[in-house]
Amino acid sequence: MKLLVTGGAGYVGSVCAARLVEAGHEVVVLDNLSTGHADAVPEGARLVSAAIDDVIEDVLAEGYDGVLHFAAKSLVGESQQDPAKYWQGNVVTSLRLLEAMRRHRTPRLVFSSTAATYGEPEVVPIPETAPTRPTNTYGATKLAIDHAITGYAGAHGIAAVSLRYFNVAGAYGRFGERHTTETHLIPLVLQVALGTRADVKIFGDDWPTDDGTCVRDYIHVVDLADAHALALANAVAGEHRIYNLGNGFGFSVRQVVDACRAVTGHPIPAEVAPRRDGDPATLVASSDKARAELGWTPKRVDLDGIVRDAWEFTQSRREA
Ligand code: UFG
Repeated sequence: MKLLVTGGAGYVGSVCAARLVEAGHEVVVLDNLSTGHADAVPEGARLVSAAIDDVIEDVLAEGYDGVLHFAAKSLVGESQQDPAKYWQGNVVTSLRLLEAMRRHRTPRLVFSSTAATYGEPEVVPIPETAPTRPTNTYGATKLAIDHAITGYAGAHGIAAVSLRYFNVAGAYGRFGERHTTETHLIPLVLQVALGTRADVKIFGDDWPTDDGTCVRDYIHVVDLADAHALALANAVAGEHRIYNLGNGFGFSVRQVVDACRAVTGHPIPAEVAPRRDGDPATLVASSDKARAELGWTPKRVDLDGIVRDAWEFTQSRREA
């Protein structure tokens, strides 16, 4: 298939683009490089370095079999301080993309949605039928786009899939997490092992969990990429299907820090700090629907293995 990968110079987008190229697809990456990196675009993919808003009409006029839409603003804290950046950058831009897809009859869409659409869960593991009550602007914008996709799929025959990611981690060779502003737990902890950060703060140890620290569902980025390929292959014209993607296993912040210590051999000093605003105690996905309907099985579920891949990537960046 000829595929457009928006945000394909970013973390998840670059891993997916690499896997799609390897699977034999023709891949064009559209990325404005605001947070992505030109050298993260895999060999064999063509980079169009521009904003979706400026070029999407012309790009889709070339004729594509599908779009994988990763490009987005994705910092929860920033979304609370600067909501306009998220409503404009995520929602308005995605509406432009949907309009261009409608006009040029692009048949398939796979969208990067998020667990943040659910907010504080009532039931864990979280199924797709859970109420969607986002607690931050980031999650609200992704949910708004999901609703828009439902309408476009039904009215215009697009075969659409939204994938709601839980905590993406790990790396795929030279493709990994390289954020200028890093807020995610595993890369922050690995920075301590690398020597570029003095210690890690644990945001609260009085949560209602086994060891008092927050529990999250860490999914390997390669398992996530594989789910995108399956979503693309199984999308049905006129339908918008939504799948949660996680391992189904929760790991606490302390377990993550311990795994990083074991993998890196570094003591990694950790200090308990106040709770972070807006953090739910536990977020774990039920991925039963993705398993049943897409035939997806996460294969890299071991936390040490996920951390090891991220660590190899982190070290290779230091050497680069
Ligand atoms: N944490 C720390 N110290 C840190 C950083 C994080 O203790 O320095 C804790 C957080 O409090 C949280 C856990 O580690 O309990 C994971 O935090 P991340 O920031 O890595 O990830 P989140 O669970 O907050 O965010 C993820 C995605 C978001 C998404 C959110 C909700 O990265 O895009 O899940 O689904 F919005």
